[in-house]
Amino acid sequence: MPTRTLNRNAEAPEIELPPDAATADDHRNPRRRRRHEEEPIPDVGLLLQPEPRHELDKLILHAEVKTDILAGLRALEIRADLDRIWNLSAIQPQEGKCILNFYGPPGTGKTRAALGIALKLGKPLYQVDYSSVISKYLGDTAKHIKAAFAAAREHDAVLFFDEADSLLSKRVATGESCSTSINQNRNCLMQELDRFDGVVIVTTNLFENYDPALLRRIQRHIKFRNPDASMRRELFALHLPNPDRVKADYAVLAELSRGLSGGDILNVCVNAIHAGSTDADPANWRVTQELLEREIRKVKKAKAEHSGEKGKNRRRIGFQPS
Ligand SMILES: Nc1ncnc2c1ncn2[C@@H]1O[C@H](COP(=O)(O)OP(=O)(O)OP(=O)(O)O)[C@@H](O)[C@H]1O
Ligand SMILES: [Mg+2]
Repeated sequence: MPTRTLNRNAEAPEIELPPDAATADDHRNPRRRRRHEEEPIPDVGLLLQPEPRHELDKLILHAEVKTDILAGLRALEIRADLDRIWNLSAIQPQEGKCILNFYGPPGTGKTRAALGIALKLGKPLYQVDYSSVISKYLGDTAKHIKAAFAAAREHDAVLFFDEADSLLSKRVATGESCSTSINQNRNCLMQELDRFDGVVIVTTNLFENYDPALLRRIQRHIKFRNPDASMRRELFALHLPNPDRVKADYAVLAELSRGLSGGDILNVCVNAIHAGSTDADPANWRVTQELLEREIRKVKKAKAEHSGEKGKNRRRIGFQPS
């Protein structure tokens, strides 16, 4: 979660202010505060309608990921039978409730899978927009969190917290400046999750940051991983949808692209398509092995440089591996 810092006087250490802490000016100026209170609650999310292209079948996933997703969906489908046979309502009274956590590296298909699930359930996806939820006015963030759940209920939507670690990370120790307001927001979120009788999907790259209180509310944790060689081969085929114009050895590409995610392979393919479509006559547009290999090298180089920079920064701030 982004924070601002405030240095009250020269000697005092810098303290962190959460983004929802109103500035003194905003609070003390009654006219500004009244004007703010009269404003309607803004839209705090985006209603997305999944499309046929988001079908779960079009995702290339590890077998256990697919199995876990389908098991979650099946549990929702057969809820009436589960109730009849197992008297499930006695231990889990909210029929449609299901909180799923998709975690894993970037570009492995977490967001796409959320859209696929919404499509399968025949519901829209209500994607929470954190920049609208987090308010500088005390008390407003909690109001916005409630508004997000209300909107999902109103639209009978799957509630989607994409890249959720910014909102769902650990509580702040009491005693720290503004911890009360942050923890109130957390508590409000947990209460709303408890009351919500529908499907919630949260995704993250930083699973370890989740608040333990959230963790215990999640029914299924599904770990997305980078694709193996045979999946990478399929990903190239998927992302080069006009095979007549592609002259490439997918087995070789799959080997060369070790370590790349589905999202990386999408970028490789799109960039190779762009590079292969420069001739004035579209009849001559082609994607070749050479173009694809060049794009793979570029993505790998960028990723290696990025992790090199991250390593340098860690050393600079004295990072000690645990
Ligand atoms: N497993 C996959 N199967 C098919 N396509 C994939 C897969 N993973 C990624 N892609 C492609 O990459 C794009 C980006 O993936 P997506 O946004 O779902 O990744 P993500 O896991 O949510 O990443 P991030 O953690 O960065 O948000 C998708 O729209 C899709 O085209
Ligand atoms: Mg995502």
